[in-house]
This record gives sequence, C-alpha cells and structure tokens, in this order.
Amino acid sequence: MDWAVKLLRRLPAETAHRATINILRLAGPILNAPSSGDTRLAIDVLGRSFPNPIGLAAGFDKDAEVPDAMLKLGFGFVECGTVTPLPQEGNIGPRLFRLPEDRAVINRMGFNNHGMEAAAGRLAARRRFGIVGINIGANKHSADRIDDYRRAFVRLASLADYIAVNVSSPNTPGLRALQNRDGLERLLGVLTDERSRLGLKTPLLLKIAPDLEAVGIDDVTSVALTFPLQGLIATNTTTERPGTLRDRNARETGGLSGAPLFRRSTDVLRALRERVGDKLVLVGAGGVGSGADAYAKIRAGASLVQLYTALALEGPGLIARIKRELLALLLADGFADIGAAVGADLRS
Ligand SMILES: Cc1cc2nc3c(=O)[nH]c(=O)nc-3n(C[C@H](O)[C@H](O)[C@H](O)COP(=O)(O)O)c2cc1C
Repeated sequence: MDWAVKLLRRLPAETAHRATINILRLAGPILNAPSSGDTRLAIDVLGRSFPNPIGLAAGFDKDAEVPDAMLKLGFGFVECGTVTPLPQEGNIGPRLFRLPEDRAVINRMGFNNHGMEAAAGRLAARRRFGIVGINIGANKHSADRIDDYRRAFVRLASLADYIAVNVSSPNTPGLRALQNRDGLERLLGVLTDERSRLGLKTPLLLKIAPDLEAVGIDDVTSVALTFPLQGLIATNTTTERPGTLRDRNARETGGLSGAPLFRRSTDVLRALRERVGDKLVLVGAGGVGSGADAYAKIRAGASLVQLYTALALEGPGLIARIKRELLALLLADGFADIGAAVGADLRS
C-alpha cells in the first residue's frame, strides 16, 4: 500500500485523486468487510449504531462511487457529496493544491459532480451496509438555491442514513450567505417540511464554516434549535490563511483544510457545544490526523469525527492508526467508551 501512496503523491493532486477513486472502484468489491472492531469505539447516535466515530468527510467521494470500499477500509461512516441537482463541471483547473509542508490542502473545486440522478442511481444499486450520509448543495447558476437543496433532499433522502446540508463551501459564490439567520430559517423550514410531507425520518445535519464570528455562531445555533434538526457538522474549509503557513501553494485561492484548520474548527465545535449542549449531535471535522486530534474533537463535544486531508496526504493506513490511538487515550483517561468522553472538556 505504501508504494502506491508514494506513487500517487508524484502525480498532480487531482489526477492522483481520480486514480485513487478508480483503484477503489476496482478493488472495492474484493476487499474484505471490516471486522466489527473494538466495541468501546462504537457509538449510537442519529438513530444508528456507528461501529467507530471516525468518518470520511465530504468531497472525497463526491459522486458516491466508492462508499463501500471506504467503509471496508475501516471508516465508521462515509459522507458522499456534495451532490447538486444538476451535473456541473466545477471551476477551471488547477483547482486542488497540496501544501505538504503545512500538512494542508487548498481546493477551489466548486462542486464538480455528476448530479443527483447519477448519485441516486449508484446508491440505489448498492447492497446497503454501513452508514452512508449524503451531503447536498446548490448548483452554481441556480435561480433558486433553496429549491436546489429541496430537490436534492427529495431525491436522495431515502437513500441516505443522514443528509448533510452544505451551506459552507467557500467555492460557490454567495452560498455561505445561507448561514445567515433569514436564509437558514427558510432553508431549514423547507427541508424539515419536505421531510415530514414525505414521511421520512432521515436525520438532517447542517455543515457550517469555520469562519463564522461569535454572532454568526449564535444565529446558527438559535435557528438550528428551533427546527427539528438532528446535528451540526463543524467545519468546512477556511478562507483564512494563518500566518504560519510556509508552503509555496499557500497563496492559492480556495478553502484551506488539514492541520492549520484544526484549532479554529475545534474552537467553533466547542462554541457550538456550549450553546446546544446535547440537544444536537455534533460532528467534528478539520485537521484530524491522529488519535489525539480525534480525541480532542470528542472532548470538545463531537460524537462523531470526520477527516479528508490527512487521508489524502498519508494514505489509508491512517484510519487504523487513529482508531488505535483514540482507544488508548480513551482508556488512559478512564472512559468506558466514546459516549462517555463526548464533551468532557466542558464538564471539567
Ligand atoms: C479537495 C476537497 C474537496 C472538498 N469538497 C467538499 C464538498 O464537496 N462538500 C463539503 O461539504 N466539504 C468538502 N470538503 C471539506 C471537507 O469535507 C472537510 O470539511 C474539510 O476538508 C476539513 O477536514 P480535513 O481538514 O480533515 O480535510 C472538501 C475538502 C477537500 C480537501
């Protein structure tokens, strides 16, 4: 596996990503299903039993091509997408940049995806096992963005274990405005109404940006608590550029992910936990590359954790290592299981 990761690293970032998806499509069916793993890493939230709390974040498998292969590699859950109603090309390349010196990535992909019909076809054809969420968004040139979310929700909700509503990508101009109080009220009103009209129970989670100020966080949490929403994902990539970045790609436009995002995204997560307590399930994403990082997110309030950038930089050996380290940290602090550690920092 190591040699393959080294070889892929020599390719331009997006070419390497496409090659990885193709390899996984071929290898996926012959990979063995994972053993159930240590039960102390399991957690029951969102009406599901997650075998472990380490998930694959959105953006890796935008078109739901390889969710089963990723589950077999050991992830506790996989989030596909972002999927938009219509297929779209995304931005002109190059649009994906590695910053190895900073253990980071910058992307300005712009929701390149095959559209909801293609994703729905693939998801309907799979034999359902494991936990697969679908992340939905709006087309760049849509005249009615809220209706785009509605259409994607209607098409995909019955095929997903949860739906993540992405209002935080920095690469679709104006999209983040939907995090404002007015926009959020309309969007969540439409989606929760549609869910009850369809008689579905699919959990709804809102994915937010790390660049929200305290007022923005207050708005998001107060609106989120007035609707029958199940969770928040904190966070997407950042448009900020911490002064510590050293890599020559640091000035590229787009969303920064990976190690330099860890602190800010964890601060946002903790601020959410302070405001919502255990009324909503929190999913922590941003700069997770070790068991200690995942554990810090859990102690700050996350029941589930997601990662993408560290996987792209290090390869799939990372998944087992994170789970091993996480379990050791949990036991060293005397917690019986993950659930007992969620939000521990806010109690002490
Ligand atoms: C290349 C790339 C593409 C991404 N695409 C999406 C996307 O389509 N939808 C989304 O909600 N987040 C997307 N993300 C954000 C990730 O899901 C995640 O929130 C963020 O990268 C922070 O986690 P990380 O530091 O572990 O990568 C993308 C991230 C990267 C690096």
